[in-house]
Amino acid sequence: MSDMQESLQGSDIPSLQDFNLASGAYRMVLLGIDDVPCMVALQDRTGCENIVPRTIDYYYTHLFTGQCALGIRDSEGVLVAQGLIKCDGGGSLIQNVLVDPAHRGQKLSSRLITQWLELLKESGIGFAQARVRIDNHSSLHNFLACGMDITQTIPSPEDPRYMVHVLTKVVKDGFAPQ
Ligand SMILES: CC(C)(COP(=O)(O)OP(=O)(O)OC[C@H]1O[C@@H](n2cnc3c(N)ncnc32)[C@H](O)[C@@H]1OP(=O)(O)O)[C@@H](O)C(=O)NCCC(=O)NCCS
Repeated sequence: MSDMQESLQGSDIPSLQDFNLASGAYRMVLLGIDDVPCMVALQDRTGCENIVPRTIDYYYTHLFTGQCALGIRDSEGVLVAQGLIKCDGGGSLIQNVLVDPAHRGQKLSSRLITQWLELLKESGIGFAQARVRIDNHSSLHNFLACGMDITQTIPSPEDPRYMVHVLTKVVKDGFAPQ
């Protein structure tokens, strides 16, 4: 189990930042097994553009095997943004970053990425990585704006028809991906 999973499952849950925007109040949350139907519904609402769509079994397996997910709920409790977080080998990968089309343009994904990086720092994880299709300019812009750098450009390990930029940020001094 990674340091992050241990710290998220212990009593000392790292801080999650709630915030207010002109469109209303939002709540940053850790997502669990009970949230899987909402996560699948959010994925369906995005139309699966620019991502590898995940099956419901993928979401359940991800959470049952001790991995994490971050979400943002609106003032009515509806899940409007999410990201799946994998921790392995001293690093963390964020996948399936999605924002509900009705809530885009408010930098919700930047807040999610920033919160993820903050959790990694609090958990002692060494480095953060993300993979973004090379033509997904808005997502690339967001990861770069959050201080990540393009370290590789490769065929997507999940769907080699697409080239992806690998973005990396060293979170803890002295750590680097293999
Ligand atoms: C990509 C996505 C997560 C962005 O969510 P969001 O929170 O609405 O992002 P925002 O619109 O607030 O921010 C997008 C930023 O990219 C910029 N942007 C938008 N289109 C752009 C383009 N073609 N080129 C460069 N920058 C662009 C915006 O100006 C904004 O920059 P700013 O923060 O400096 O103002 C969302 O559009 C989404 O869910 N897309 C479908 C799934 C997806 O692509 N996920 C990412 C997988 S890696």
